[in-house]
Amino acid sequence: MGLAVVTGASSGIGLELATIAASTGYDLIIASDEAKIEDIAIHLQDFGVSVQAVQADLSTIDGVDRLIEDIAADGRSVDLLMANAGRGLGKGFLDQDFAVALEVIETNIVGTIYLVHEIGRNMRSRGAGRILLTGSIAGFTPGTFQAVYNGTKAFINSFSFALREELKDTGVTVTCLMPGPTETHFFARADMLDTSVGQAKKDDPADVAKAGFDAMLNGEGDVVSGWKNKVISAAANVLPADMLARQHRKMAEPGSASDK
Ligand SMILES: NC(=O)c1ccc[n+]([C@@H]2O[C@H](COP(=O)([O-])OP(=O)(O)OC[C@H]3O[C@@H](n4cnc5c(N)ncnc54)[C@H](OP(=O)(O)O)[C@@H]3O)[C@@H](O)[C@H]2O)c1
Repeated sequence: MGLAVVTGASSGIGLELATIAASTGYDLIIASDEAKIEDIAIHLQDFGVSVQAVQADLSTIDGVDRLIEDIAADGRSVDLLMANAGRGLGKGFLDQDFAVALEVIETNIVGTIYLVHEIGRNMRSRGAGRILLTGSIAGFTPGTFQAVYNGTKAFINSFSFALREELKDTGVTVTCLMPGPTETHFFARADMLDTSVGQAKKDDPADVAKAGFDAMLNGEGDVVSGWKNKVISAAANVLPADMLARQHRKMAEPGSASDK
């Protein structure tokens, strides 16, 4: 089928994206920060495809360079790039550790667009390729108690549409997957299990990934998975920002889980 690259493939939405790609017959290069990615690669080889694991911290230029070098060493061009690695961060901005807030920006924005810059250039030279960015419906809403995270996703949503338009007629498509709250490690890692959204029923990452993968193969601009999320994102486009920020407080304020 070709070669697919998936970042953040060790768990959650990225693992499901990699699983769909492998089950469709794509050889894979998968990346994440921790050693678990090696076990995931072995497991995905059961689909009869070749899978290379790259353990790299994609919040750093060095880490992204390591992934780019491994892709180059493979020798094949990338048919599908799924730039999905990302992390959240709960609590009030002034109560967050600034180093961690910076890491969120560097993973979700800097590392992501650096990878897209490198692989996207090769795709454009070749006149073919599909890019899927994992944005979020969070990018439509000022994220009270997730201020930095929502800001990073607003960047990715916006960036994705802009790059898509720039690459129109080049043979390269750019698609933005915009999930709503999804059942992954995300909320535990963001220290948000004491929040209303942290405790809410969430979407199945396999369904979310399927919607994203299909939209990418169809060359669509974006996909919001699930009707409820479609309503939320449509409303976010018309409601005033201060009202959205107030609403977000209800779901993300520390301790809001006990208000339910
Ligand atoms: N879950 C949701 O509700 C939701 C909603 C909208 C959008 N999203 C987005 O979906 C994407 C995937 O998140 P998820 O929900 O599937 O969460 P997850 O289960 O925590 O998965 C995150 C993945 O990203 C990787 N990652 C994080 N920081 C990294 C770094 N610095 N370098 C390399 N890999 C890194 C993780 O690998 P390691 O374990 O090795 O760190 C893991 O594979 C993210 O971009 C997230 O913002 C999630």
